[in-house]
Amino acid sequence: MRVLVIGGGAREHALCWALSRSPRLTALYCAPGNGGTGEIAENVTLDPMDFAACAEWAARNAIDLTIVGPDDPLGGGIADVFIARGLRVFGPSAAAARIESSKAWAKDLMLRAGIPTAHAARFTDRAAAGAHLDHYDQSGGAYPVVIKASGLAAGKGVVIAPDPTAARTALDDLMVAGTLGAAGHEVLIEDYLEGPELSLFALTDGEYVVPLAPACDYKRAYDGDHGPNTGGMGAYSPPAFATPDLLAEIAARILRPTVRAMAAAGAPFRGLLYAGLMLTRDGPYVIEFNARFGDPETQVVLPRLQSDLLDLCLAVADGRLDSVAPPTWTPEAACGVVLASAGYPGPFEKGLPITGLDTLDSDIRVFHAGTRRQPDGALVTSGGRVLTLVATAPTVAAARARVYANIDRVYFSGVHYRTDIAAREVTG
Ligand code: AMP
Ligand code: GLY
Repeated sequence: MRVLVIGGGAREHALCWALSRSPRLTALYCAPGNGGTGEIAENVTLDPMDFAACAEWAARNAIDLTIVGPDDPLGGGIADVFIARGLRVFGPSAAAARIESSKAWAKDLMLRAGIPTAHAARFTDRAAAGAHLDHYDQSGGAYPVVIKASGLAAGKGVVIAPDPTAARTALDDLMVAGTLGAAGHEVLIEDYLEGPELSLFALTDGEYVVPLAPACDYKRAYDGDHGPNTGGMGAYSPPAFATPDLLAEIAARILRPTVRAMAAAGAPFRGLLYAGLMLTRDGPYVIEFNARFGDPETQVVLPRLQSDLLDLCLAVADGRLDSVAPPTWTPEAACGVVLASAGYPGPFEKGLPITGLDTLDSDIRVFHAGTRRQPDGALVTSGGRVLTLVATAPTVAAARARVYANIDRVYFSGVHYRTDIAAREVTG
C-alpha cells in the first residue's frame, strides 16, 4: 500500500509513525510534512489547499490511500476532489466537514437530533445579537455566557464572557471589527457549561462507528489553564473519569446518533469524527465536533493503539468498517507535552536551532510539528508548536513523570511548555 498523509504537524507525524508499523505499507509520503516526518516518510512539497495539485500528485504516484490531517483542506472539499478523480481518501466531504467548519450547522444538527449540547442562538446581524443579549440580561440571564465564531478559527473563536460588557465587546470584535474575518460573520451565543473536558475520537464510514481511546487535552497556553487558547499544549490518555460506562453512554447518546443524523441530512461522515465533550452534572454534553484527528490528542492515542491503523483507515475509506476487528489498546497510558516557541500563540521567531533530541531516553517518542531540516542537516524551529514529547508507561502518573524527566534535555531559544499536563491524574 502506498499512502500519502496530508499535513505537517505533530498529528501527521504521529499518523505517519503509526502507519509505518503496518506490514501492508510499502511507501509513505507526507505533504508538506516536517523535520520529523522526513525521517520515516518522504516529504512532498505540496500545498494542502491546492486540492487539484494534491490529487494529481496522488494519481501520478499511484497512491492507494490519502489521509487528510488538517481541518482547512477538509472544510474546503479536498476529499470531494479526490473522490471525483476516483482516488481513495480518508476524510469527510466538505458537506460532512461542516460539523466542524460551521458551528451553526453543527448546532442545528445536534439540537434536531436531540444530542446533548448547550443551547445556543445564531446571528449574522450585530443588532439582532445585541437585542438577544438585552433580552437575556433583562430576563436575569446567567453569566458567563459563551460567544463563538461559527467558522474555522484555529482555536481562537470562543470567548467566555464574564459579564454583559464583555459579551458585547466580543460581538463587536467578531461582527463589526471582523477580527476573525469570515469565520466570525456568524456567531453563536451559547449557554456556559461546567465540568471536566474529554476528547473522544471515533472512526466512522458514515454508518458504523468505532470509538477510539479517550484523551484529555490542554488548550490554554500556561499552567493552571491561564493565558490564551492555543491549538493544544499537551494531552494524556486515558483519563480516569472516562469509565467504560461513560464511554458507552457517549457512543450511544452522542456518536451514533450524530453519525445517523448526518447521513439523514445527506452528509454522511466518512473519516475521523472528534467529539469535544464536557462531563456536566447532567451527563456528557458536546462542546464541539471536529472532522479530523485532534492535535495533540493523536500523539497520545496512537501510541496506545495495538491494531493496524492502515487497515482501519482503509476500511473507513471503503465503507466497510463493520468488517474489521475492533481496535485493541495497550494497557499502558500515554502523556504528551508540547514544546512551543516563545510568544506562541502570538507571533514567534523561526529558524532557531533545536538541540538535545539525541539525549532523550529511549522510551520517549518525539513527534515533530514546527520543525525543519536544513540542507546542512541541522534541525530548526519553523512553527509555534515545535515538538510533542510522549511517553507511555503503566499509569498516567508514570508516563507524565517520564516526559518531564526528559523535557529539559531538549533546547531551543525561548522554548516554553506547560508543567501541569496530566498533573490532575496524580493528585486527584
Ligand atoms: P471550542 O473551540 O468550541 O472547542 O471551544 C474552546 C474551549 O472553550 C472549549 O475547550 C471549552 O473549554 C470552552 N467552551 C466552549 N464552549 C463552551 C461552553 N458552552 N461552556 C463552557 N465552556 C465552553
Ligand atoms: N486539540 C484540539 C484540536 O485538535 O482541535
